[in-house]
Amino acid sequence: MATLEIKDLHVEIEGKEILKGVTLTINTNEIHAIMGPNGTGKSTLASAIMGHPKYEVTSGSVTIDGEDVLEMEVDERALAGLFLAMQYPSEITGVTNADFLRSGMNARRDEGDEIGLMKFIRELDSKMEFLEMEEDMATRYLNEGFSGGEKKRNEILQLMMLKPKFAILDEIDSGLDIDALKVVSNGINEMRGEGFGCLIITHYQRLLNYITPDQVHVMMQGRVVKSGGPELAAKLESQGYDWIKEELGIEDETVHSEA
Ligand SMILES: Nc1ncnc2c1ncn2[C@@H]1O[C@H](COP(=O)(O)OP(=O)(O)O)[C@@H](O)[C@H]1O
Ligand SMILES: [Mg+2]
Repeated sequence: MATLEIKDLHVEIEGKEILKGVTLTINTNEIHAIMGPNGTGKSTLASAIMGHPKYEVTSGSVTIDGEDVLEMEVDERALAGLFLAMQYPSEITGVTNADFLRSGMNARRDEGDEIGLMKFIRELDSKMEFLEMEEDMATRYLNEGFSGGEKKRNEILQLMMLKPKFAILDEIDSGLDIDALKVVSNGINEMRGEGFGCLIITHYQRLLNYITPDQVHVMMQGRVVKSGGPELAAKLESQGYDWIKEELGIEDETVHSEA
């Protein structure tokens, strides 16, 4: 078992404090969900854990099995087993999807132990079939011209090929129709197991109809303010967030448009 531990994490963007002490522990074999209104710092949490240069960690810690993640370069974080599916995946012209995946897989293996081309292709084919992806998606440039849904499916393809220890999936359900939502959920459920822990960030409960999280956390104003089981997500769906604000005596803040 491995453990990703986030302790009292404070993060600033351009001098403004966005995360005000986030504490969260995720073990492999667990799926956690973070829900919360727009602009509360969910994506900031994901980016800070992955080491995005714009996000300055001012205090707190992030560790995997006690190893300091914040000391690591971005590529070292990936090698340590972290994976981020971004809310808005970037397009990379000139690098095909297949090449990107193969080099990512090989970077995680020892020198001399690179994955053979045929083995890679077989694995890629089977995962793409599982995710009901068009064959030409492998040879197209990474995310270039991909529809919103194709990008999200492709993030799950990366997840299934790279097999990280811990995945953070930021709004992986946004912009998906119901069929794509099922495919994406199947992919995540397929990953569930001994060597895999997952943090699903979403502001809709509907994804959690297909993936039953072990724990649900509510994030507001830069903090995790409440944690519970799957029933918490259902309650948020039916009652919104106001009851939590009342319960905790949180004052209303400006609600940001899609952040
Ligand atoms: N790159 C950035 N530059 C400036 N402000 C940012 C940046 N990213 C996020 N923010 C601000 O940080 C706050 C939290 O944003 P975000 O983490 O994206 O929220 P969420 O994902 O919960 O909707 C928002 O007020 C947002 O405007
Ligand atoms: Mg976000």
